Amino acid sequence: MSITIDHAGQVALVTGAGAGIGREIARWLARAGAAVAVNDIRAANADAVVAEIEAEGGRAVAVVADCRDDAQVELMVATVLDRLGGLDIAVNNIGMLPKGRGTMPFVEMDGAYWRDIVEQNFVLAALCARAEARALLAQGRGGVILFVTSGETTRPSPFNSSYASSKAALNHLTTSLAVELGPDGIRVLAIAPGTTLTESVRAAFTEEHVAQIVGSTALRRMVEHDELARLTVFLTSDLARCITGQFILADAGAFLSRTRPRNLRHDETELTKGDPRA
Ligand SMILES: NC(=O)c1ccc[n+]([C@@H]2O[C@H](COP(=O)([O-])OP(=O)(O)OC[C@H]3O[C@@H](n4cnc5c(N)ncnc54)[C@H](O)[C@@H]3O)[C@@H](O)[C@H]2O)c1
Repeated sequence: MSITIDHAGQVALVTGAGAGIGREIARWLARAGAAVAVNDIRAANADAVVAEIEAEGGRAVAVVADCRDDAQVELMVATVLDRLGGLDIAVNNIGMLPKGRGTMPFVEMDGAYWRDIVEQNFVLAALCARAEARALLAQGRGGVILFVTSGETTRPSPFNSSYASSKAALNHLTTSLAVELGPDGIRVLAIAPGTTLTESVRAAFTEEHVAQIVGSTALRRMVEHDELARLTVFLTSDLARCITGQFILADAGAFLSRTRPRNLRHDETELTKGDPRA
């Protein structure tokens, strides 16, 4: 006996699927049998991913839209319904640090910086989820909305507080929407990746930084794009049908190891001081 995951007959939309993690999620959902709408702001990238999926025998269409724009988001979802005949799975993957500004001390983050990062990581995903939820409610056959947040939401994130807190807001939105939409059979989930060497991350990190991250994970390695995609295929499938309102860390144990301050010696930690009541 074997167990298979089958998304045949389902329609999936993946935002920001022209590169990185979103591209891999789109490809794996297609491999599992879903017809996939590949959204990206960059038309050439969306088209290239559609071609890759078709070359493997899958079904996909490119839906170019800038998801910061309400009207384009509405049009994107309407286009998916029109071209693929419905919507069952929506993966809201877009998110990033503000272009060229990277991490910085909290006291240097001005209003423009905050508005930019909250828009790209939180408002944009909320707008997409709203349009998707309206489509799923109108169809009346349930569905799944999945956000891509970050492992950074699980611990203090000094010098990266804007990104981490905007992604943490998405984790909270996940729980609220799960309760609000659950009675209509709509599950709402989030995956929280550890550092994954997508093109944009590879360009931003030095080799030394990468080695540091690898050394701080429990499994001594980074998360691969396809591992996040496989997790998404599972969470959006019938096998996970009782799971909603959760965010699932997929980080090779990175945020387990980093919860323990690395500048403390073992004998300086509270755990080794013994019970003061003894
Ligand atoms: N890579 C990592 O280490 C990592 C770790 C944790 C969380 N994440 C999260 O995973 C998600 C994907 O990250 P990635 O590294 O694959 O990103 P990426 O930069 O490689 O890809 C993002 C894609 O989104 C598209 N995009 C950007 N803005 C858009 C817009 N307004 N409308 C439509 N498309 C747009 C880009 O063109 C690009 O193709 C993000 O939410 C990121 O915050 C990434």
